Amino acid sequence: MASSRPVDRWIVLKFGGTSVSRRHRWNTIGDLAGKRAEEIGGRALVVVSALSGVTNELTAIAEGAADSAARVDALVTRHGAFLEELELGQEVLAERLAALRGLLQDPRAAGRPLDWQAEVLAQGELLSSTLGAAYLRSRGLDVGWMDARHWLQALPPSPNQSAWSQRLSVNCQGQGGEDFGSRFDAQPTRLLVTQGFIARHGDGGTAILGRGGSDTSAAYFGALLGARGVEIWTDVPGMFSANPKDVPDARLLTRLDYYEAQEIATTGAKVLHPRAIKPCRDAGVPMAIRDTGRPDMPGTRIDGSAEPVPGVKAISRRNGIVLVSMEGIGMWQQVGFLADVFALFKQHGLSVDLIGSAETNVTVSLDPSENLVSTDVLAALSADLAQVCKVKVIVPCAAITLVGRGMRSLLYKLSDVWATFGRERVHMISQSSNDLNLTFVIDEADADGLLPILHGELIDSGAMPVYDAQVFGPRWREIIGSVRPRATPWWRAPAARSRLLALAAQGTPAYAYDLATVRERARQLKAVAAIDRYFYAIKANPHPHILRALAEEGFGLECVSQGELERVFAAVPGIDPAQVLFTPSFAPIDEYRAALARGVNLTVDNVELLQHWPEVFRGRALWLRIDLGHGDGHHRKVNTGGKEAKFGLSAQRVEEFLEQARALDIRIGGIHAHLGSGVENSGHWQQMVDELAGFARRIGSVEVLDIGGGLPVPYSDDDEPFDLDAWGRGLAAVKAVHPAFQLAIEPGRFLVAECGVLLAHATQVVEKDGARRVGLDAGMNALLRPALYDAWHDIANLSRLDQACDADVGVVGPICESSDVFAQRVKLPRATAPGDVMLVADAGAYGFSMASTYNLRALPREEVLP
Ligand code: LLP
Repeated sequence: MASSRPVDRWIVLKFGGTSVSRRHRWNTIGDLAGKRAEEIGGRALVVVSALSGVTNELTAIAEGAADSAARVDALVTRHGAFLEELELGQEVLAERLAALRGLLQDPRAAGRPLDWQAEVLAQGELLSSTLGAAYLRSRGLDVGWMDARHWLQALPPSPNQSAWSQRLSVNCQGQGGEDFGSRFDAQPTRLLVTQGFIARHGDGGTAILGRGGSDTSAAYFGALLGARGVEIWTDVPGMFSANPKDVPDARLLTRLDYYEAQEIATTGAKVLHPRAIKPCRDAGVPMAIRDTGRPDMPGTRIDGSAEPVPGVKAISRRNGIVLVSMEGIGMWQQVGFLADVFALFKQHGLSVDLIGSAETNVTVSLDPSENLVSTDVLAALSADLAQVCKVKVIVPCAAITLVGRGMRSLLYKLSDVWATFGRERVHMISQSSNDLNLTFVIDEADADGLLPILHGELIDSGAMPVYDAQVFGPRWREIIGSVRPRATPWWRAPAARSRLLALAAQGTPAYAYDLATVRERARQLKAVAAIDRYFYAIKANPHPHILRALAEEGFGLECVSQGELERVFAAVPGIDPAQVLFTPSFAPIDEYRAALARGVNLTVDNVELLQHWPEVFRGRALWLRIDLGHGDGHHRKVNTGGKEAKFGLSAQRVEEFLEQARALDIRIGGIHAHLGSGVENSGHWQQMVDELAGFARRIGSVEVLDIGGGLPVPYSDDDEPFDLDAWGRGLAAVKAVHPAFQLAIEPGRFLVAECGVLLAHATQVVEKDGARRVGLDAGMNALLRPALYDAWHDIANLSRLDQACDADVGVVGPICESSDVFAQRVKLPRATAPGDVMLVADAGAYGFSMASTYNLRALPREEVLP
């Protein structure tokens, strides 16, 4: 019979070690528990871990450490000091600390049986909960203390369970008996403090829930009480789309369903123990992960109520994975082969994680967090397996897992991810049968640095739907306040906006350039002390006004064609040819002749030029472009280094080039490399200086190291402005190592991208199968970057700049190509209508200079704002 009194409403809050080790944290615990109880009109159960570090000490003692007595002394001192910090009398813990000392005197201490070990381990939580309850009471709160062992009962052992896990890694009963709730309700206080990690063993002694056990305790209590929620309070704001230590751009996951959360917890995230989810899932109790240090953050909510959102939610990495590859002749369809093999894994106490199979090979992975995979165990396993097949153990590997709902239907969005893995040695790919994960196993060393790249690719491809605000919260960088936000763009100023509207009225599409922005960027670069010579790569935007402005700011001009050379001399009459650099790639030989006739600096990048046209180059001073064997950039199509790239002399052929140059009496005054465009890693150029300096010393005559362009700009709020100061400091440091050389740079984008906007009129607004599209009179003919590189440009409705951007729309152009799309998901005012003036931002670099008359649409106009 159920109790006639309705069961009280409960909320369960669990606090981990760091959250219970300081006085102010206990103030937070008291405040939060009180507030939560009030919010639900019920009561709060507070489940606590031991003070941080205490469980490790107790584990050492339980395992019989030689200095156990000293460790116990230190624990007594530590708890005594904490009582003082809490202004509590020493008597609060007197009995418990005596019990801890008593365990060392216990006759069982010599043999260290598991029941004794469990009791030792339980002391940490018993101590922390006792002192916490006393402290909260001293603050006047209505708090009771209870022994978790009266309420949580370990499950009877299962058939294959080891004696160790029957005592020190138990599961608990999910059912508390009919009167559990009413018995619990009979506790007299509004708040209750109890221990995580411990339960009652079937023999009446103590049992331990194992690592992460406090989370699991809270979950059991939540399930048994049918609580309104179980909140896990910890020292991070929740689960993230990747480990923030590796990926500062990782997003807080604000809502997950139980299964996704389980998968993320299992494959890497340490914030919530995977065992803690099932009890709540079975009982339908929502969970939340919250940050004790940032109680106002939303945290991660885990429940089963809302419609699941398809997409990759997280990417994780596990290290120390062991692969066991088993090769057998004729094992295909041989009855019982797998059973024999897996029996051996079982014999050695190893549980298998991933499985891949082929006609003559089965490969499995062992996860170190689930197994004790010592070299001894592996050697013994290999010896046994060798009886039935040929064995190879591959270590150490890393498992990189994408987690999310509907992985199979996302495959088409993962082409960049596959391509990135394609550059590594992939040992195994595994797709879980529940369609929640996709795992790649590669060598551990290859996994370094890969996560930020993959995370970025998942976002760019739309596979990770970060735009869905139900699921994705702020980035880690934002949370810790290390974001340097983008400056408000110039075109948002009222005066600029009116001028742009007036320009648009004269006809669109039109580019407009703000020269003040160009000059500002030029001055920022010129303030970098480590750089000696500045060139502007005019291919980004060769508008004469821009060339003149930059020449006035002291920039030389870098060209790649005869057309660009002629533009330079026409736009900046009287420019000193020494201030002009010509860096052609596979250009007709006449262009080299013309450049030499003009007396500009000429860069060559292959031996064949000298071999084929020795007389053109004999006796000249040249610069040499070298391929340093690696590249970078915002897209693979702008990566200009490495074997795949057509640019630069291979490092292997430098000697051959120098011999040829000596024979022709050529002097190499500069060496040059440009390895990609839109490079976000500021160490890129530092490394180039180092590598180029090595070549320069070999060559002897070199004075200038030209480290190319490639500096990025922040195209979206997700991009941080490039840290020029850090870049400058890095260059200064490496220059100090190679003081003999001048440094030159030749950026394009950085100087002009943000100065330019593309103005267009909205042509039509169309709904189709649930998608809303706004068409512009400018398309890939006017701005090719989105179609060619999937590049992002912010888009604004200049006619309705003050209206809220409350609709998600696709923005497309008028060209007859499917790739004529600026972006799929742009936030624009819902009222956006034909005739509105639309602005595509940051289009000053590689905008007009790459425009075409495709579909016989006229080139955009260009206007310069002084
Ligand atoms: N120097 C050389 C030899 C280059 O090839 C380039 C660009 C630069 C300097 C200037 O790179 P920047 O600082 O602008 O990244 N159309 C692509 C960019 C291609 C860059 C080609 N070379 C885009 O729109 O992203």
